[in-house]
Amino acid sequence: MFESLSSPKPDAILAQMAPFKDDPRADKMNLGIGVYMDDKGKTIIPGVVKLAEQLLLDSEESKTYVGLAGNLSYNEAMKEIVFADSAPEGRVYGMQAPGGSGALSVLAKLMERMRPNAKIWLSTPTWPNHAALLSTGNIEIGEYPYFDPETCSVDFPAMAAKLRTMGPDDVVILHGCCHNPTGANLTNEQWDEVAEIVKETGLLPFFDIAYQGFGDGLDEDAYSVRKFASTVDEMLVAVSCSKNFGIYRDRVGCAFAMGANAETASIAYANMQNIARGIYSMPPDHGASVVSIIWNDDALKAQWKSELAVMSNRMTSLRTKLADSFREQSGTNKFDFIGVHRGMFSLLGLTPEQVDKIKKDHGIYMISDSRINVAGVQEANIERLVKAVLAVSA
Ligand code: LMR
Repeated sequence: MFESLSSPKPDAILAQMAPFKDDPRADKMNLGIGVYMDDKGKTIIPGVVKLAEQLLLDSEESKTYVGLAGNLSYNEAMKEIVFADSAPEGRVYGMQAPGGSGALSVLAKLMERMRPNAKIWLSTPTWPNHAALLSTGNIEIGEYPYFDPETCSVDFPAMAAKLRTMGPDDVVILHGCCHNPTGANLTNEQWDEVAEIVKETGLLPFFDIAYQGFGDGLDEDAYSVRKFASTVDEMLVAVSCSKNFGIYRDRVGCAFAMGANAETASIAYANMQNIARGIYSMPPDHGASVVSIIWNDDALKAQWKSELAVMSNRMTSLRTKLADSFREQSGTNKFDFIGVHRGMFSLLGLTPEQVDKIKKDHGIYMISDSRINVAGVQEANIERLVKAVLAVSA
């Protein structure tokens, strides 16, 4: 039977990991996959995670099943981190999921149960794995305009005009902050406008928020979700703790459903658990327990916030330095957008051939759409990176 299978296309992001590892060049640069690296190029485990893991190890008495919704105290912590006090009483339920990807997948299946003929709209461009995680059943995938490569910013008039044509059978995927892959984000005023459009048209907002705290701050980055929580009746939110807690391989995420009233919200929650049971049954516990320990201890919570700020400040400062170096070495302000963007990523505007060339000639790895992970840049490499980009795009 296996002869009927053909080989799948390699993953646009993960396919880079092995060739980078095997590249013998000492000065190679990994600007591919979205993991945070420090100035030595290391993805360290945050100190606060190590402390919480030790506490967990010392206190854990059993490995028995936890339950379909995972760790309830983690779910409560995530609600506070993402929604703060914006969640309408009794109308928001969170369920632990295996990473942000697991949350996206469960919520897509929930959506299919609610609106089997829905059409999901993704931003152009979006994270390459969105379509695979969200296409389920009869659900169609469409694209709404988002990024303008000329200005390297959001084409908000085009985006808003497209959203206004949608209705209750449409679901719009919104990156809550730190857009992946473009790094270009909506202003708070633009989020206010999108919330109004969603309210008027009845389309269902579905947030993916995987980089909270990597942009302008934990609360600032949650403006979009919190604004929607206080404006619209229903929404879905998929959250990841991979980046802001640095626990990538532990697969820690949360799926939220906000209903128009307490009854429909609790039915959505029951359906989410029922869907999870039919896929992976229950989520892994370790990382979620670590997050819950951190969030429920004032000292650990403060330490987490300060370690998170170190990561985001480093990325913001690298952005400024990169933009300055590009201005200096190119004699133009063409790359100023890097300093304006927020989060891990920016698209440099290179062609796939130029991306191949920079890898071959300079050992610099980025995604074929020219997405760079800013955190992969080391201060000492800025000039070399800028020179290489200008050389291949000349
Ligand atoms: C990325 O965009 O690089 C990350 O979200 C990692 C992944 O799974 O693609």
